[in-house]
Amino acid sequence: MWKCPRCETENSDNSAFCPVCGETQQHAQAQRPRAAAGWPTQQTPSAGYGAPAKKSGSKTLIWVLVALLILALGVGGFFAYKAGVFGGGSNTSAPVLPPASGKGGSSEVKSEGGLVGVSMPTRDLQRWNQDGENLKKELEAAGYTVDLQFANNEVATQVSQIENMIANGAKVLVISAIDGNSLGTVLAQAKEKGVSVIAYDRLIMNSDAVSYYATFDNWLVGVKQGEYIEEQLGLKDGKGPFNIEFITGDPGDNNINFFFDGAMSILQPYLDNGQLVCPSGQTDKATVATPEWSTQKAQERFENILSTYYADGRQLDAVLASNDSTACGVETALAALYTNSVYPVITGQDCNIANMKNLIEGKQAMSVFKDTRTLASKTVEMVDALMKGTEPPVNDTKTYDNGTGIIPSFLCEPVVCTAENYWELLVESGYYTADQLK
Ligand code: BGC
Repeated sequence: MWKCPRCETENSDNSAFCPVCGETQQHAQAQRPRAAAGWPTQQTPSAGYGAPAKKSGSKTLIWVLVALLILALGVGGFFAYKAGVFGGGSNTSAPVLPPASGKGGSSEVKSEGGLVGVSMPTRDLQRWNQDGENLKKELEAAGYTVDLQFANNEVATQVSQIENMIANGAKVLVISAIDGNSLGTVLAQAKEKGVSVIAYDRLIMNSDAVSYYATFDNWLVGVKQGEYIEEQLGLKDGKGPFNIEFITGDPGDNNINFFFDGAMSILQPYLDNGQLVCPSGQTDKATVATPEWSTQKAQERFENILSTYYADGRQLDAVLASNDSTACGVETALAALYTNSVYPVITGQDCNIANMKNLIEGKQAMSVFKDTRTLASKTVEMVDALMKGTEPPVNDTKTYDNGTGIIPSFLCEPVVCTAENYWELLVESGYYTADQLK
């Protein structure tokens, strides 16, 4: 048994060191005369905050050092917080981004990375707003200056916006084409000036100026829609016949060839063997296309179909809709004109807010979730690589031939969204807030 003179712990064993403060027993013994010479041997409670503690000198030293350390961390932490090192400030959950385009904030940081032109088709559909904003935010965070334009679904407007981007010195163009066949001339100018072009989501056709393509696996989107109908109707088990109608998107959008043909790769055999029947007879891509993916035009076409082929109360079992904007038109037409009590299985794509509300209410069975955050990030990686002269990420070098050869692509993965998993997919992942879906 020995008492440590430094921390005054009674040590029952005879180990060489005090287990509490590490003081050596030898040292303790050597110190004993000093303790005897008047050093306190009993720890006295502090007389209050700030009052000098009556402790042993070395213990006081430790406390002083600890206090100094805490103070240093506190002061340093405060300044680090102010400087945003910990992502602090008004929005603690958001990463701290450099100021966009040198605008805003007191410390004007000019982007050094160069100008990137981002050309989106329209503000009318939810997804392009999201895509455009995500791209801008991420490109600016990576240090680039961004010229983001929406072309109001007018080809001439998109062409002139791209011309301006080139004239303003853009080094890379990220383009989601309104009409994949109408950008050849303006992109020839881009190529001449050494501007790289990334086709975003929609492939740009017949132009050798296109260097890369960032998109989702569009064929798989269609396949997932077809498989969903196949499963819901029990087609694999031989059930049927069921009535089905079809609707796809803009004929100038190369994606419909993948969406529609992908879905038909699953459904066509059932049309052929009679398990699926299309009362309107409208099954070919050109007939079921919807200019500009317009909800209004989709609604009009379906009002026509319903009043011509279903007015007698005929049951409609499924609608293959290639995306949410067209599905919305179908759902509005059904609400007005469909009288049978069996509601059809309706597919979609994009997980637009209006459609998610319909999905929750049982008016749409599924959508295909294409996380635009992932696509934006991949595209930014591509831009960055092009700017730095390194290899952009690609995972497909076989599928997308734009008429001038295969365009190396990065395909993100689409995911089926239903009433069962929308909460996890969209709300828990932070894509939407719960309030947005109310
Ligand atoms: C996109 C879809 C979108 C559609 C209409 C397609 O090119 O891939 O996600 O629903 O355009 O905007």
